[in-house]
Amino acid sequence: MSRPWWKNAVGYQVYPRSFKDTNNDGVGDIAGIIEKLPYLKSLGVDFIWINPIYKSPNVDNGYDISDYEDVQPEFGSLNDFKILLDKAHDIGIKVILDLVVNHTSDQHPWFIESKKSKDNPYRDYYMWADATPDKMPNDWTSFTGNSTWTYDETTKQAYFHVFAPQQPDLNWRNPKLRQEIYKMIRWWLDLGIDGFRMDAISHIQKAPFDYEPPKDDPWKPFMNVKGIDDYMAEMRDIFNQYDIMTVGEASGVSSKQAPEWTDPNKKGYINMIFEWEHNAREGEEGHERINVDEMKQVLSRWQKDQENSGWNALYFENHDNPRINTILGNETKKSAKAIAMSYFFLKGTPFIYQGQELGMTNYPFKSIDEVDDDESQIRYHNMVNSGKDPKEALQIITHWTRDHSRTPMQWTSDIKAGFTEGTPWMKINQNTKTINVESEMADPDSVLNFYKKMIAFRKSEPTFIEGNYDWFLQSDPDVYAYLRTDDKKQFLVIVNFSKQKKIVTLPKELMNDKWQVKLTNTTEKNLTEQFEMEPYDGFVYECEN
Ligand code: GLC
Ligand code: CA
Repeated sequence: MSRPWWKNAVGYQVYPRSFKDTNNDGVGDIAGIIEKLPYLKSLGVDFIWINPIYKSPNVDNGYDISDYEDVQPEFGSLNDFKILLDKAHDIGIKVILDLVVNHTSDQHPWFIESKKSKDNPYRDYYMWADATPDKMPNDWTSFTGNSTWTYDETTKQAYFHVFAPQQPDLNWRNPKLRQEIYKMIRWWLDLGIDGFRMDAISHIQKAPFDYEPPKDDPWKPFMNVKGIDDYMAEMRDIFNQYDIMTVGEASGVSSKQAPEWTDPNKKGYINMIFEWEHNAREGEEGHERINVDEMKQVLSRWQKDQENSGWNALYFENHDNPRINTILGNETKKSAKAIAMSYFFLKGTPFIYQGQELGMTNYPFKSIDEVDDDESQIRYHNMVNSGKDPKEALQIITHWTRDHSRTPMQWTSDIKAGFTEGTPWMKINQNTKTINVESEMADPDSVLNFYKKMIAFRKSEPTFIEGNYDWFLQSDPDVYAYLRTDDKKQFLVIVNFSKQKKIVTLPKELMNDKWQVKLTNTTEKNLTEQFEMEPYDGFVYECEN
C-alpha cells in the first residue's frame, strides 16, 4: 500500500467566525476563507480543518447543530461552501469538516419531535429517563460541572447531555439514529470533502445509568465506554470507501489503546487522535502554566506507543485552548518559534491553529461581558453564586478560557485588524499593531516567515514521516530534546522552555562533527557536549549517516 496523503501533510485549523469577515457584519464567513486561500497556499499547508459551519442557534459556537446538511446563514450558503471546496481543490488544498455527532442542538427537528411525547417516533433518538424537578435519574456530572440531566415538564422526564443543556446527547444505541447519521456522513463525503475532525467522539457510548462513577473520575461513564467499538467500526466501514482523513477528538482513549483505533491493520476506526493529556497544567487556579515536565512525558509516551503502529495528530493550539505563546512562551517572537520547533518534528500530522503562525497571544479580559464562551460563563456564574469574589472569579476563568483563541485573526495593523470593517463579534487584541500578517510578511525575521520555512523543511525530509523517535535529556525540567532517525539521516531537535540560561550535557555518543544547523530562532552554533542555551533557544540539527 502506498503511503496515505495525510502522513506527509500539514494541517491548518480555521475557526470561521474569527477568520475573515467579508460583508462587515462582524462575523467571519465562507467568502472570507475563499479570499484567504492564497494566503494559506503561501504558508504551505496541505489541508484545512474548518470548525462547524452548519446551521446552529450558536449556544456553543456551532457545536450545537440544528441542521446537519445546511450552512449557518451568517457564514454563507451551501453553494458558497461548494465554491470554497472547488477553489481549495484547484490549488491543492484539501478540506476537512467537523463532525459533531455526540449531540445536536435542542433546536434540531429531531429533538423538537423527541420532546413532544414519550411515544413520538423520535423519542429514542435521545436519552430520556424518569425524573422529578429535584431528583434526576442519577447524579453524574457533565463537562460544565452541572448535572448531565435536564428535566422537561411536558413528559415529566429528564434528557441526558454531557455538554450544555442546549446540546442533548444522541442515543447511539438506537440503530435508526445511527443510520440517519451515516446517511449524513455519506452526503458530505459524496459532496467531495476530504475528511472529518470527529468532535467528542469518545463520548458517544454511555455506561448504564445505574453505574456509579468513581469520585476522582466523574466523567468515566462517557469516556470510551464499552460498546463504542461497534459504532466506530460501522463508521470506519464508510470512511474506508473514500480517500479521506479522519482525526478524532477522543479523550479517554489512552496512548496504549490508541493503536487499536488508528492502525488500519488493527481495528483502525480513524486515522489519528487529538490527545488531550499533554495540555498539563501546573500552578494555582487562575495562574496556571503548562507543566513542561509532564508535557514532555505525555508527548513521548504517545510517540512511543504509536511508533510502529498507529499515527499521531500533533498540535498545541486549537479553539478550546488559550494561546500557546502566552501559556508556554513569553509572548515574544522567539518563544513562538521555539514552541513551533518543539512539536513540529514529532512523528505524526502537525496542525497549526489560525494565528499561531503569527505568534498571537492571549487577550487581556477586563470584564465578564467580554467573555463569549458558554463553558466559561457557566463556570463564572457557578463560582460567583457560591460566594467567590467576582474579580477573582473573572481572573480564574479568563486565565485559561478558550476565548483567547477565538479573538479575530490579525491580518493588518489596523485597529480592526483587517478582519472586518464592522463591529467584530469578539474584541480584537490591540497587539494587532505589531502581530499581524501584513507586517510579518514584510519582516524576514517574523514568526510567519519562520513557519513558512519550517513547513517547507518538514515536508522535504522523509525522515520526519517514518523516522524513529528517541527522547533524551528526559529528566531536564525545561529542555525538550529528541532525535528522529532513519537509515539515511538523523535529526536532533532541542528547545529550552526556561526563562533562564541553561547548560545541558548532551549524550557523548551523539557527538561528532557532522551535525549541521538546519533551523533555529537564534544564532547558529556547533553542537557540543556542554551545550549552552539562552531562554527559548531552539535548534534543529541534521546529520547524514
Ligand atoms: C469539543 C469541541 C468544543 C465543543 C464540544 C462540544 O470539545 O472542541 O469546542 O464545545 O466538543 O461539542
Ligand atoms: Ca460576515
